[in-house]
Amino acid sequence: MAQLQQRQRLVVTRTLPQASQARLDKGFEGIDIIQWKEDRTIPRPEFLKMVKGADGILCLLTEKIDAELLDAAGPQLKVVSTMSVGFDHVNVPELESRKIALGITPGVLTEATADTTLLLVLSAARRIRESMDAVINGGWAEWSPTWLLGTQFTEKTVGIVGLGRIGVAVAKRLKAFGVQKFLYQGTRRKEGSEQEIGGEVEFVDMERLLKESDVICVCCALNDKTKNMFDYNAFSKMKKNVVFVNTARGGIVDQDGLIRALREGKIGSVGLDVTVPEPLPQDSELLKFPNCIVLPHIGSATLETRTAMSEIAINNVLSGIKGDRLPFPHDA
Ligand code: DGY
Repeated sequence: MAQLQQRQRLVVTRTLPQASQARLDKGFEGIDIIQWKEDRTIPRPEFLKMVKGADGILCLLTEKIDAELLDAAGPQLKVVSTMSVGFDHVNVPELESRKIALGITPGVLTEATADTTLLLVLSAARRIRESMDAVINGGWAEWSPTWLLGTQFTEKTVGIVGLGRIGVAVAKRLKAFGVQKFLYQGTRRKEGSEQEIGGEVEFVDMERLLKESDVICVCCALNDKTKNMFDYNAFSKMKKNVVFVNTARGGIVDQDGLIRALREGKIGSVGLDVTVPEPLPQDSELLKFPNCIVLPHIGSATLETRTAMSEIAINNVLSGIKGDRLPFPHDA
């Protein structure tokens, strides 16, 4: 008699964008789907209960995947698939020691995140927050030759920290604005990326990047080496009028150091899509500076990108449950 195949258990921590949710709702043969469907992050105690017996987990960057969670899931867990390219919320050594695969969603959020970076660079450089506040609050008295003067990009130098896919896409966009020179920092020189951007692109040490850049864009991953990389000391070395933008992870910036630098007028303008914590409390001092724009982590928030991310996340988790190689493992 043929042996009955054991059903697999897939835990999904949130409702997905429409097309991917429809795919989940149709179901997959031999798989029971247990999904948190409320439009808010699953509370940790619920997650710890729900995950019991899971063969695969499809989660978001809002869920911490650590030893406690993996213990709660049990030894049958084969795969964690996060609907994100960043995976600093996952304890990778714990997963590796338990031979659990980790899937991520690289590539598909490059354009949307680069667009958001440009949005922040332009908005910070051209003082959009102050301009809009003036219109709304009656501060717009008349046209003035000296009022709300920002900075432009022609003949300027841009520093990119992390010249990965997103860093390159940011540089290519900024090049069209007349930027003369790109300096970049990262784990190694990337000649292919230099050629893709074209023109003057130089791999430099951090000191030079901080000192010479008119605009600095943070596009690297958060890890032990990059945590708090931008502290008060780093901000003190930047040009006084620098435009500083972070669309990567809040933890790369020491926020107290940033607040001190802003308070002391050490930096020109700031654009952040990421903070610590998220959401940023409404009484955070960061929100008080007119030259600091904060967005609620919307870097990849387009329908196209979020759908592509959730499709990859589903494909990763299904492959992992079957015991196949993931289409997009974290260490590819
Ligand atoms: C990611 O996928 O890591 C992004 O931060 C989501 O916008």
